[in-house]
Amino acid sequence: MGNKSSRLPGFYKRPLAERVQIIADWAGLDSNEAAVLNEQGLTNELADKMIENTLGTFALPLGVAANFKINGRDYLIPMAVEEPSVVAAVSNAAKKIRAGGGFRTSATDPVMIGQIQVLDIPDMNAAIVAIEANKASLLETANCCDKVIVSLGGGAQNIVARPFPNTPVGPMLIIHLYFDTRDAMGANAINTALESLAPKIAELTNGRTSLRILSNLADQRTATARCTIPADQLATKEYSGQEVAKLIEEANAFAIVDPYRAATHNKGIMNGIDAVCIATGNDWRAVEAGAHAFAARDGRYQSLTDWHVDENGDLYGEITLPMAVGMVGGATKVHPTARVAMKILDVKSAPELAQVMAAVGLAQNLAAINALATVGIQKGHMALHARQVAMAAGAPEELIQQVADQLVAERRIHVDRAKEIIASNQLPIGQ
Ligand code: MEV
Repeated sequence: MGNKSSRLPGFYKRPLAERVQIIADWAGLDSNEAAVLNEQGLTNELADKMIENTLGTFALPLGVAANFKINGRDYLIPMAVEEPSVVAAVSNAAKKIRAGGGFRTSATDPVMIGQIQVLDIPDMNAAIVAIEANKASLLETANCCDKVIVSLGGGAQNIVARPFPNTPVGPMLIIHLYFDTRDAMGANAINTALESLAPKIAELTNGRTSLRILSNLADQRTATARCTIPADQLATKEYSGQEVAKLIEEANAFAIVDPYRAATHNKGIMNGIDAVCIATGNDWRAVEAGAHAFAARDGRYQSLTDWHVDENGDLYGEITLPMAVGMVGGATKVHPTARVAMKILDVKSAPELAQVMAAVGLAQNLAAINALATVGIQKGHMALHARQVAMAAGAPEELIQQVADQLVAERRIHVDRAKEIIASNQLPIGQ
C-alpha cells in the first residue's frame, strides 16, 4: 500500500466504469466491493434497519480526490458531495501541496468530553472538593461499561468540575468527563459512561443531575495539518507565485478579522471535510458543530486556517480543528459504500482518519482562496455548474457537455437558455 502513488493523471477523462476499475485495482477491492461502487450501495432493506419510517435512500455522487501525500504516504480520498468542483479543486490543491513535500499532520488522542449538569447543590465548594477527592472511584465507575475500549487503552481519563454560579435558573455545576474513545467516534460509549456516573455525582454533590451528554466542542480531540507550498507552484499567467502567495495571505487575514468572511471561509473547509465524513459514514453534523464552536473559542468567530508567506517566500498553511470521527461502529461499518470508502482510504486508526480529514480541509480552503484571490470563483465553478444546468434542462446524455460549453461561451448559464439551445438545436456546427 505504502508505495502507491495517488497521482492519477487523466483519471477524470476516463469513463466511469474504468475509473471504478482503476480504484478497485489501487485499493485491492474484490468484485463485490467494486459492485458496491458501480451500483447503489445501500439497499432499502438495510436503510430500513438504520432509521425509522424509511421510504428509501437518498443517493449522492461519490468521487475520489487524488494527489494527496500525507506524512509521506499517498492516499486516495473518497468524497460524497453534490457540489460541482469540490473534488476537482481539492485534488488540484493537493497537487500543489505535494510539490512542497505534502501534508505534515498530527492528532491528539481521541479524547471526547462528556457533560453532566448538576443543579440544586446546597454547597458548591463542598461539592467540588468531594468530586476532586473521589476522582479515582468516579473514573472507575465511568469505565464500567465499555470493557473493549478500556482493554484497548481507552476509557475515562479525567474528571473536572466547572461551576457556573450565574445562569438563568441559578447556580449549576457542570462535570466534564474526559473519555478516550479509541477508534470509535464514541458517542454511545461516552453517553453510557455519563449515565452510569450521574447517580454517584448526585450523591457526592447532594445535587440533582439532569443532562448527561457528550460535548461536540471536542477540543481535546483535535487534528492538525500543515503544508508549505513552493511559491513557484502558485504562479499563473497573470501573477507570479510570490504575488499569489501574498494574495492568499491577505485572503486569510480577511477571515481572521471578519466573522462574515470567516463563516464562508470555514464553509469552504467543511465542503471537503463533510464530504469525507459522509463517504465514510461519519457524523458530519458532529464535526460541523465542533469546527464552528472551535472557530469561536476566543470569543470571536474566525478562520480555522492560517496562511502566510514564510521566511523563504513560500506559502505556509495550517489548520487545527476538533475531529470526532471513528472507524468502528455506526454507519462506518453498516453502510456498504462507507465500508468500501474506508477500504480505499486504508487508515489504521481514528486519529489517522482525523488527520486525513484535516489535510482535506486545508487543501479545500487553499483551492477556494487561491481562486477567489486570483481569477475569482465563478470561472471554474461555472463550467461545472453549466453541466448541471444542461442536465436540469433535459439535455440528452451525449449533448450535456456541448450544451454546457455553449452556455459558458455565451456566459448565460440558465436553464431557460439551455432549453432553448436543446430545442432549437443551436449547437455549434460540426459538433
Ligand atoms: C463554496 O461552496 C465555498 C467558498 O465560498 C469558500 C470560500 O469562499 O472560501 C468558495
